[in-house]
Amino acid sequence: MTKNRYWRLDRNPEGNDFDSALSLVDGELPPLEDGQVRIRNEYLSMDAGTRMWMGPREDGYQPPLPLGQPMAGLAIGRVTESRDDRYPEGTMMRAFGQWADYSTIVPDEAWAVALDESVEDIRDHFGALGLNGWTALHGLQDVIGIGEGDILVVSAAAGATGMLACQAGRNLGARVIGIAGGPEKCSFLVEKIGCEMAIDYKNEDVAKAIRGFGEKPTAYFENVGGEILDAVLPNMALRGRIGICGLVAGYDLDEPMPGPKHFDKILMNRLRVEGIFIPDVPERGPALYETLLGWLREDRIFLPFDETEGLDNTLVAYNRMMTGKNIGKVIVKL
Ligand SMILES: NC(=O)c1ccc[n+]([C@@H]2O[C@H](COP(=O)([O-])OP(=O)(O)OC[C@H]3O[C@@H](n4cnc5c(N)ncnc54)[C@H](OP(=O)(O)O)[C@@H]3O)[C@@H](O)[C@H]2O)c1
Repeated sequence: MTKNRYWRLDRNPEGNDFDSALSLVDGELPPLEDGQVRIRNEYLSMDAGTRMWMGPREDGYQPPLPLGQPMAGLAIGRVTESRDDRYPEGTMMRAFGQWADYSTIVPDEAWAVALDESVEDIRDHFGALGLNGWTALHGLQDVIGIGEGDILVVSAAAGATGMLACQAGRNLGARVIGIAGGPEKCSFLVEKIGCEMAIDYKNEDVAKAIRGFGEKPTAYFENVGGEILDAVLPNMALRGRIGICGLVAGYDLDEPMPGPKHFDKILMNRLRVEGIFIPDVPERGPALYETLLGWLREDRIFLPFDETEGLDNTLVAYNRMMTGKNIGKVIVKL
């Protein structure tokens, strides 16, 4: 039997203490069942949303991962064995698999896709062309309805989803204000990503900085929640639109996040607030992909990678993302 190391979720993590909650264990690959595909993982995607699956909450958009099971996550790799004719041995794929040497998946339950290998950097299937890119563009086009002349605020703007939302917003005609932690990230957003202004929420008063922009934001792509939402919400323009993509500030709470302080501004300023969730709109995938691929080829969108090497260092990478050490997309190269 082939050996397969995998990360097992032993207990629900407290805060960012992932070392006590997950362990790397040695396993063996069982024979494939009908309909299953086996992928030799080459890259793992670190996604902030997976922090919710590690907790005990039953009322999220995804049930919690059972304790004692392999940690689930997006992987890119080549099929080594297949009992699904659509994905023969040798196919390069992206799918929700396991944090492991190998992912064993049922393609239709794993958001699996065969990848276009003519894309120069295969890692872009995690970033600009991946679910972060799809989420950013779907959120802006279909949920928020961004257009020429909008003033768009994006939080967690130097992370994967946020950085793509900044660039997609700019490409669709908006003037963009990014919010991120630290001066290095803020300089990057202005110099490389095309944000007109970047606010360092760790060192600046976010509400005051937004008021200082001169014109009120008409759109907000929210990735964080908590104090950042409290600073942006009361400063939105009349009839502003807010797309809630993520609430990373509350993913370790194990209970619902407290409501925003300025909830009444939704009435006073007739704001529209709506959640963004890409699995709701699988039919939008091909069109989103085409737009993003066009932008990538025209150098109108890019995403740097924060890459860590080795399956045994997966928690180092995950910690970098959850503690904001990353600029761009956090991945693990196996
Ligand atoms: N709805 C969907 O379908 C969907 C899909 C993909 C992603 N998302 C959401 O998008 C957001 C970003 O996820 P990602 O995977 O792209 O990760 P990411 O942005 O690359 O990394 C997470 C970032 O969040 C920021 N952060 C972490 N804790 C924070 C806190 N307490 N307060 C403020 N900022 C904090 C950090 O940046 P700073 O240094 O700037 O703090 C960090 O770089 C998450 O909320 C995620 O759930 C949603």
